[in-house]
Amino acid sequence: MAIVTAQRLVTIERHIAEQEHLHPHATGEFSRLLRDLMLAFRLIAREVSRAGLNDILGLTGTTNVYGEAVRKLDAYANEVIIRAMEAGGHLCAMASEESDGLIHLPPGRPRGKYILVFDPLDGSSNIDVNVTIGTIFSIYRRRDPSSTTDGTLEDLLRPGSEQVAAGYVCYGSSVTLVYSTGNGVDVFTYDPTLGEFFLTIEKLRIPQRGKQYSINEGNAKRWAPELQQYIDYLKTPSADGQRPYSLRYVGTAVADVHRVLHYGGIFMYPADRIHPSGKLRLLYEVNPLAFLVEQAGGRASDGFRRILDIAPKELNQRCPVFLGSPEDVAEAEAFLQRRHPWQQYSSGSSEPTVVSV
Ligand code: AHG
Ligand code: MN
Ligand code: MN
Repeated sequence: MAIVTAQRLVTIERHIAEQEHLHPHATGEFSRLLRDLMLAFRLIAREVSRAGLNDILGLTGTTNVYGEAVRKLDAYANEVIIRAMEAGGHLCAMASEESDGLIHLPPGRPRGKYILVFDPLDGSSNIDVNVTIGTIFSIYRRRDPSSTTDGTLEDLLRPGSEQVAAGYVCYGSSVTLVYSTGNGVDVFTYDPTLGEFFLTIEKLRIPQRGKQYSINEGNAKRWAPELQQYIDYLKTPSADGQRPYSLRYVGTAVADVHRVLHYGGIFMYPADRIHPSGKLRLLYEVNPLAFLVEQAGGRASDGFRRILDIAPKELNQRCPVFLGSPEDVAEAEAFLQRRHPWQQYSSGSSEPTVVSV
């Protein structure tokens, strides 16, 4: 089955312009912001594709705010996005996973009403071995749109449901841009010879249920028993052939979520005994991915509540993640909340005939 669904030849520029026309009061500020962002993505895509040639692989020798080693491409991508966005006049604040606190905009330039939050390079551990990596972004409108001063921390600490747009770029066998302004999810594929993103999938819909799960199973011994039971359940053959699920795990959230958006199933980065909030960062990674998954008809939960409803308390906050096909995520929640009938059976025993979620 061909995955490409777009029938029209539409570049990202044209798509942004068409979207702007849908909003009669649009000033064009948001469209210009997106165009600047696309330029940053093209620059990063170019560097990613030449990574080995430019002596850019490897570590910078410094660590970020989480104590993680910063790779050269992390630092490059961070720098490029900041440079492309800081002087455009569309933003009043920025925050990046690779920068500590709010990123200050240069003095003497106008401040706009938008806020950009991003993970410049997702999947850092895969950079040096030519495995898919990504960039994640999220856009909010400042609390007081008429203000012309710098944005504040309060402007950034917002539930994900208030995002006006979110997306990611997936640098894989091709470069793909997936984004949503709250009106469904559109997918663009980059043609490096033309330097253009072309619309390849219009209004992507996630399958109701999948047959693949994605989790770092190396952490299994640290998981809650309820989660261990859920994963056991996914691996237990069922009479209808729906199970066992197949395991797919790249270790780049963008790549794993990209696959889940197309094929369905579930992506998880749960809490465990050592990491009570999991690993992924709510503002930089989880909220934008959750927004896209919901916009594609999926479900995104921390196991107990909708991710997009969480009110963040700090920029670097982490959050457990269960996202993907609505039926799969609801089933995972039922296990975690001890509402799934299979749980009355111990691992490896036969399953009940009725499985309700
Ligand atoms: P980043 O490279 O931005 O630090 O993010 C890495 C994240 C995420 O992309 C991925 O899902 C996860 O780390 C993988 O973690 P494990 O190696 O613990 O599985
Ligand atoms: Mn990341
Ligand atoms: Mn990162």
